[in-house]
Amino acid sequence: MSWTSLQVRALRLEAADVLGVELALPGNAALPFSWTPGAHVDLRLGNGVVRQYSVVSLPEHGHVYLGIKREPASRGGSQWLHEHLRLGARIEVGPPRNLFAVQPGDGPVTLVAAGIGITPLLPMYRACQRQGRPVRLLYFSRDAQALPLLQPLDAGIEWYSGLRAPQIAECLGQRLSTREAHASVYCCGPAGFMDCVQQTALAHGWPADALHREHFQPAVAAVPAAQGCTLVLQRTGCEVRVNAGESLMQAAARAGVALPVSCGMGICGACVSRVIEGDPEHRDECLSEAQRTSGEWIAPCVSGCRGARLVIDA
Ligand code: FES
Repeated sequence: MSWTSLQVRALRLEAADVLGVELALPGNAALPFSWTPGAHVDLRLGNGVVRQYSVVSLPEHGHVYLGIKREPASRGGSQWLHEHLRLGARIEVGPPRNLFAVQPGDGPVTLVAAGIGITPLLPMYRACQRQGRPVRLLYFSRDAQALPLLQPLDAGIEWYSGLRAPQIAECLGQRLSTREAHASVYCCGPAGFMDCVQQTALAHGWPADALHREHFQPAVAAVPAAQGCTLVLQRTGCEVRVNAGESLMQAAARAGVALPVSCGMGICGACVSRVIEGDPEHRDECLSEAQRTSGEWIAPCVSGCRGARLVIDA
């Protein structure tokens, strides 16, 4: 992966536990990469860990803006950023990736965010507005005071604060009760919230392929494979035995092949490879339903193989 060293140009406290971070090249030089709304980037932190954060800004802003929530159970990512990032500091940023882009077309778009899940959806909302595509953004926050990234609040954003789970479900039931032709829903937030959005939409007749979700954490930890298989990395010309309980990526590493990796949890898509032969057993949360059923793609950091042999393009 090619890393770009960006400078911290501004820091803003967007809410008590959300740090807004503006990253740019010195002297306002053009960034060496672009992105589409909904994308995320890897940050390589000073403590050596790599974390993914959604890009809130649009490419025309000329900088990368991130909203980083301090997670109480931080494993060294958000906590380090909140405590150590300073104006003028340099930080390594990986090329943006997007598994959550609004699909082309002119159908109406409903964006549903809870908490810090607003970060990928806000640029998607702005971009749809600019394109003249019908769009609405439903935003659920726990705290009536905390409105990170959304000031000023414009008329197309429906903001609900302080609702409990049954009230959220009822509200979603009302807002998703009918579906216009070619309409789609994109949601981001805690896993339970996204399940609620999905179940509500399905119950009101939305087709599964009109529903999209972005994970910040795996909903459940991937269960390691109960039995092994043979993994063939076709481009590298390497064949390795994958042991029970071992990921494809770990087996490849044991054989001396470093597959691309970022989150290592099946959520970012950095490792996704094409399947040439074999029956993938998906344990990721980054591939779409269509990609899974096609059998053509696999996230080797967590997924496995149903048969005895898997050949991938790596
Ligand atoms: S490394 Fe992120 S999905 Fe595999």
